[in-house]
Amino acid sequence: MSHFSTKSIHGGDHVKPTNDVISPIHITTTYSYSSNPDELIPGGLTDPTTLVYSRENHPNAAQVEAIVEAITGYPTVVYNSGLSAFNGLITHVNPKAVAIGQAYHGCHGIVDVWKRNFGTKEIDIDDGDYSLVKAGDLVHLETPVNPYGTYFDITKYATKAHEKGALLSVDATFAPPPLLNPFDFGADIVMHSATKFFGGHSDLLAGLLLVKDQATKEKLLLDRLVLGTNIANLESALLVRSLRTFELRVARQAKTVATIVQFLNENKAKFPQLDKIYHGSLQTDDFIAKQYPNGHTPVFSIELDTDAHAKSFPSKLKLFHHATSLGGAESLIEWRAMSDDHISKKLLRLSIGLEDPRDLLFDLVNGLTEGGNDANALVEEIKKLSV
Ligand SMILES: Cc1ncc(COP(=O)(O)O)c(C=O)c1O
Repeated sequence: MSHFSTKSIHGGDHVKPTNDVISPIHITTTYSYSSNPDELIPGGLTDPTTLVYSRENHPNAAQVEAIVEAITGYPTVVYNSGLSAFNGLITHVNPKAVAIGQAYHGCHGIVDVWKRNFGTKEIDIDDGDYSLVKAGDLVHLETPVNPYGTYFDITKYATKAHEKGALLSVDATFAPPPLLNPFDFGADIVMHSATKFFGGHSDLLAGLLLVKDQATKEKLLLDRLVLGTNIANLESALLVRSLRTFELRVARQAKTVATIVQFLNENKAKFPQLDKIYHGSLQTDDFIAKQYPNGHTPVFSIELDTDAHAKSFPSKLKLFHHATSLGGAESLIEWRAMSDDHISKKLLRLSIGLEDPRDLLFDLVNGLTEGGNDANALVEEIKKLSV
C-alpha cells in the first residue's frame, strides 16, 4: 500500500477496534478499567494510547489521525475545529512574540486573546520589527491566503523565522494534500481547518496539526486533553468517511477552478463589472510551480466595480450558495464583508465544489453579463470546453 487514495481508505484499518468495514460511531464517553486489580495503575490517565475517556482519545479520532499520518507521513493531532488546532499550536509554542500577516480573522482573534492575557507581542509578518522575534517565538503564515486564494513563498518565511530561532507554522487550509506540502519548504508545524477540504461535505467541524516528531505530538495530546479540544465521536466518524474520497475530490476541485479562473480571466473585458480576479494560478512567481505541482487551491476571489454590485451579485446566481466556509462538494460564494470587516466591500470569495465546471461557468457568466450582448457567445464557448 503506497499511494495517496489507497492510504486515505486503508490507512486507519490497523486501529479499527471492530471488523466492520465502516467503523461504528463509538458513542461511549468512558471505557471500563481492567478487571484485574494488578493492572490498575494509579494516575494511568496520562497515557494517550489507552482508551479511558473520550476527551482523551477514542477509536474514531485515532482512525482519523492514522489516516492523515499515512497520507502525509507526519505525526498528526486532530481537534474539534480549526481554531482549536490554532489554539493548541500557540499554547504549545508559548511565544512571547507572534509574526502574523493577512490570515483568518479567528486566528487573529486568538492572537488578540494572547496579547490581552499574556502581553504577547504581535508584529507584521512582512514589515514588522523582527528584532522582537526571539528563539522559541512563532511566525505564522497562511498560504494560500484567505480570502484571496493567492500564494506566499513558504521558504522565504521559513528563513525569516529560523534566522531568529523561531518556528514557522503554516495554515494550509486552502491547499490540502496533495496540493501543498509546507514541510518540504521549511514549515515546522502545519495546520488545517479540516472543516473545509478534509471534511469536504460541509457537515463537520475539525482541525489538524501536523508535526515533525512523535515527542511533539505527545505533548500536543496532553494539552488537548486538558483544553478539552479533542474531536467528537460523530464528527470523527464523518471525517473518516470524507477521507475515503479525499484525493478524488481535491483533484476535481483543483481542475475545475483552473478552468473557471482561466475562462474569466481570458474574457475579463466582456464583464464590465469585474475589476480583479485573485488566484494563485494567475501569479507568475518562480516558487509557485515548485510549491503547487499538483494543481491550485479551489478558492479564489473577485472584486467588482462597486460595493453595491458585489453585495447583490450572490443573489443573481442559481448554483452558488451565498454562505461562508469553503471546501465542500457544493460551490459557495460569499460577499466577504459579511464575515470579515477588514476586507474590501467589493470582494466576493468563491469556493469551487464538485459540480460540472460548465454549469458553474454558465451561472457566473449569466450573473456577470445579466443576459447582455456577450452572454450568448460566451455560452457557446463554455459548451466547447473540454472538462
Ligand atoms: C484559513 C482558515 N484557517 C482556520 C479556520 C478556522 O477553522 P474552523 O472554522 O474549523 O475553526 C478557517 C475557517 O474558515 C480558515 O478559513
